[in-house]
Amino acid sequence: MHTQREFFDVHAVRRDFPILQQRVNGKPLVFLDSAASSQKPLPVLEAMERVYREAYANVHRGVYALSEAATAAYDEARAKIARFIGAPAVENIVFTRNATEALNLLAYAYARAFLREGDEILLTELEHHANFVPWMVLARERNVTLKFIPLTPEGLLDLDAFERLLTERTRIVTFAHVSNVLGTITDPAPIIARAHAAGAIVIVDGSQSVPHMPVNVQAMDCDFLVFSGHKMLGPTGIGVLYGKRALLEAMPPFLTGGDMISYVGFDDVRWNDVPLKFEAGTPAFVEAIGLGAAVDYLSALGMDAVRAHEAQLTAYALERLSEVSGVRIYGPQDPQRRGGVIAFTVNRIHPHDLASLLDQHGIAIRAGHHCAQPLHQRLGVNATARASFYIYTEPSEIDALAEGIEHAKRALRIS
Ligand SMILES: Cc1ncc(COP(=O)(O)O)c(C=O)c1O
Repeated sequence: MHTQREFFDVHAVRRDFPILQQRVNGKPLVFLDSAASSQKPLPVLEAMERVYREAYANVHRGVYALSEAATAAYDEARAKIARFIGAPAVENIVFTRNATEALNLLAYAYARAFLREGDEILLTELEHHANFVPWMVLARERNVTLKFIPLTPEGLLDLDAFERLLTERTRIVTFAHVSNVLGTITDPAPIIARAHAAGAIVIVDGSQSVPHMPVNVQAMDCDFLVFSGHKMLGPTGIGVLYGKRALLEAMPPFLTGGDMISYVGFDDVRWNDVPLKFEAGTPAFVEAIGLGAAVDYLSALGMDAVRAHEAQLTAYALERLSEVSGVRIYGPQDPQRRGGVIAFTVNRIHPHDLASLLDQHGIAIRAGHHCAQPLHQRLGVNATARASFYIYTEPSEIDALAEGIEHAKRALRIS
């Protein structure tokens, strides 16, 4: 099926990604692992190189031209990210290293300050370890109870169970907006409204949604949203914590040191205003500027178009993979209910073997538990193979994957 609609010029997009032009093991690279980390377009690489070549100096410190230029570019990046997710102001945007660090910040600074023994945190069975382990450590340390919203057989959150699990002791509700394994898209607004009515705050893990679809924090009314720059065309080492201002102001800092203070004396220390209160030390400002360029790139395509492109590819991939005998696909069948991530197994082939055999054909997929071991326990498997798509993915690459699986079956003499 190549009668796909073009939501933007995918060929032109691909030309912006030098890495995609290469051959791997003698075959054109078919990169199907963007859910782990995306590739980077030239404007992002160039924006970062420009800082290093022309405007590099530490931010927030110097009163000379280079430092002022770097600080202005850093501040502009924060403003771009605030606009991208519909945040009311730049003060709502805290830069972190990645989504994992943003979630740890919340577990340390918010939860350790405001949760008491016997309080409850409600999460889901499909969380990435990043939104699982920090709460587990907290629960052990503070006798806080973790409860898990189960999944329906199709891999959606069981909202009836959510209603039953939400109590007057629930202080935090947290869930992945889009699952990095099942692809499940959870509609955040109704869950957030119910959680707020019960007196809980809500943390949304936007790691797999912010790169792939329009996300507006004010429309969903979440209290916090976290995501990583490297999954959305940006560099590694930069992530974002969005928070409502009153909550950020009420929280104590997470890491302490330079930049996050307004005054330090021998017997007194006062914190800087938000968001700098949460940004101790020299920030990854070149990376933040790179992420700003990534946001410009995505905004120029339009996030509705990005989502439409991926939903179409996902529909095609579900159809194409289900034609391959022995393939079992996990997660919702309806492509409108899932992001561009497909976890699957092939009868009698270990996912790692499959990934190695596909690599011989230049096809890069992920194999393993994808940092979601509890979910795999629920699915009753140790590992799955996972193909994931982005703005540069073409239908021909999905054909290559389906043909690659057939090759792997033949190589292992599996019919
Ligand atoms: C749903 C989800 N949450 C959190 C993370 C953690 O992201 P990072 O490793 O960039 O902190 C990932 C990364 O795969 C993810 O898919």
